[in-house]
Amino acid sequence: MTANSRGFELANLSPEFYQAPYGVYREVRDNTPLSQQSDGSFFISRYEDAASILKDHQSYSSDKKIDFKPKFGDGPLYEHHTTSLVFNDPPYHTRVRRLLAPFFTPRTLKALEVNVADMIDTLLDQAEDAGTIDLVNDFANAIPLNLIGDMLGIPGDEREPLRNWANVILGGLEPRLTPEQLATGNASVEAFKDYLRDLIAWKRSRLSARAETDILSALLADHDSPDGLSELELMHNCIFLLNAGHDTTTTLISNGMDLLLRFPDQMALLRNDPALMKTAVEEMLRYESPLQIGNRRATVDVTLHDQLLPAGTFLHIGIAAANHDERQFPEPEAFDITRTPNRHLAFGNGIHICAGNSLARMEASLAFSKLLARFARIEQAGPTLRPDRARFRVISKLPLSLAA
Ligand code: HEM
Repeated sequence: MTANSRGFELANLSPEFYQAPYGVYREVRDNTPLSQQSDGSFFISRYEDAASILKDHQSYSSDKKIDFKPKFGDGPLYEHHTTSLVFNDPPYHTRVRRLLAPFFTPRTLKALEVNVADMIDTLLDQAEDAGTIDLVNDFANAIPLNLIGDMLGIPGDEREPLRNWANVILGGLEPRLTPEQLATGNASVEAFKDYLRDLIAWKRSRLSARAETDILSALLADHDSPDGLSELELMHNCIFLLNAGHDTTTTLISNGMDLLLRFPDQMALLRNDPALMKTAVEEMLRYESPLQIGNRRATVDVTLHDQLLPAGTFLHIGIAAANHDERQFPEPEAFDITRTPNRHLAFGNGIHICAGNSLARMEASLAFSKLLARFARIEQAGPTLRPDRARFRVISKLPLSLAA
């Protein structure tokens, strides 16, 4: 551990931390459940605190207009992150969330399931031919990218650049940002906006021809209505959806496989009893939460662990730290695919709870069911590579050797 009085400083994390954060989080939970950072903000590490802060949107704001100014300046990354629904409070948040709701109902999900199953089958055909794959780039990445591409109405042959834009824009949310990351993040937002402007013009030329059922068209119809979303609000929420639905789900599938390889008894258990898939995916979400840290700002004076946090205090919500809290999860370092109850915070809590949670669960369940059914032997063919990321628990490479 490094820096501040008890040693945990988000702005100065060690290379070892990025690879294995949970031992550090345990110390932080035990010693400083409210861990002050050198910039005056606090890191929240215990489950009960994290769950109640996320739930209380009145006392803790998601609006990031103050916080992102010093980090991003006035550029495109600032414009993007401060316009998407996730970093806003009601009433704007409520308005956008309502517009998106019809696209995440169980009925819509059911209709999408067939496409996802077909897509996974095609990827597995290719994997079977190859024998050795990189799970991240040859499998996990393609599933959410194509699904969210379908939902947004982005033509299939135009999706490839979105992958990198999404990665770079989300990477900009890491606690530490280099000037290069800032520059490529800004350029990616602009490239994404240019692309969407073109796509919107194309959609407009088709809207009268037939009723479109994708999210972009629905937001476009709202934009055209009186008091509708502005063009920037429309574009930034589309960009956010693609980013939110893509990397996180890729990360869930990659980490899930990494866990099954690290805990072979659990892989065997799942093979023998596929009915455990539902609890297995929940345990993957808990154990290696794709989004590990969220943020809120206190809107009123609050007292936590006998400490006064004045209105305006910035908080880092340790979702991953909370999901390993032994006060909530017995033996939290055991990866147990039968764990029940498992009320993890991987999708957040309260009004901002992940809109795509059922979608992500469906994608992961299908991915693992089909992978395990197709290949009797799944072995690691090289090390799991993780970039130095604290906010997102990303895997960049996971080589696998597969045999039917
Ligand atoms: C395993 C995959 C995923 C994880 C771990 C995840 C995690 C999260 C978390 C923690 C939040 C709340 C952030 C906060 O409270 O500050 C969130 C919000 C959100 N997520 Fe996800 N997400 C995943 C997949 C998806 C997918 C597939 C979609 C859509 C296609 C999606 C769309 C959204 C949206 C729209 C929000 C904003 C909700 C709001 O502010 O009301 N997510 N996600």
